[in-house]
Amino acid sequence: MAMNYEWKYFEFKEVGSTNDKIREYCQSEGQCVVVRADTQTAGRGRWGRSWQSEAGNLFFSAAFEFDIKEAGKLAFICSLSLLQALKKIAPSADILLKWPNDVLLNGAKVSGILLEKGEGNYIIAGIGVNVAVAPKVENAVYKITSLADAAIKTTAPELMLLFMESFSQNLSLLQTKGFAVLRTEWLKYAKNLGKEIIVRQNGKEWKGVFAGIDEDAVLLMQTPAGVRKILAGDVFFEEIK
Ligand code: BTN
Repeated sequence: MAMNYEWKYFEFKEVGSTNDKIREYCQSEGQCVVVRADTQTAGRGRWGRSWQSEAGNLFFSAAFEFDIKEAGKLAFICSLSLLQALKKIAPSADILLKWPNDVLLNGAKVSGILLEKGEGNYIIAGIGVNVAVAPKVENAVYKITSLADAAIKTTAPELMLLFMESFSQNLSLLQTKGFAVLRTEWLKYAKNLGKEIIVRQNGKEWKGVFAGIDEDAVLLMQTPAGVRKILAGDVFFEEIK
């Protein structure tokens, strides 16, 4: 497993998906690679959704060797790193985190993170941020916004560099101090901690109080029947009307 992250960087005008393009650079062991594209023609999101890839927004992937059993933690490290990068650009902006890995700007989704397994021990973290444009998504399950909507000025390459700075530091922290310190930091910015949330997955719905996340990055929900552990799903803060 790589202990030092010395990233090799490649950028493209257009690719299908940076999560696919990056696989070309992970054919041998020990690589730490970042691929960014100005646009994607086949960007994909979680749960098989597509990810609209408008020019001016940020689309990139980072690939490195990582224990797949720890992937749940990586989702938190990605969203925390993105929040930290955005705070460097806009310290007073209303930026919060939503389990497992969404970053909310003024309560709306501004980014997406898709973790995929690569060849061998590689893991691929694909990140999209609405820098310039909030795509119009039909039947969107969340409100969507962009940095431009909140008058936050940056560029895709600048934001990616700030992300990679925080991300590398956080990966080192995971190795040296363990997940607890990162979980504490993540929870500082968690929306609705101690308040009601609704989790939906495959047509099922659970309601309860967001009680935290455990040492394996699983969501803990306090319900009248006790603490329920949620491994996957979409979190909502209010009923969909
Ligand atoms: C989500 O559904 O919230 C996750 C979206 C992830 C989008 C990014 S953009 C860069 C990378 N390439 C992809 O095809 N998807 C991820």
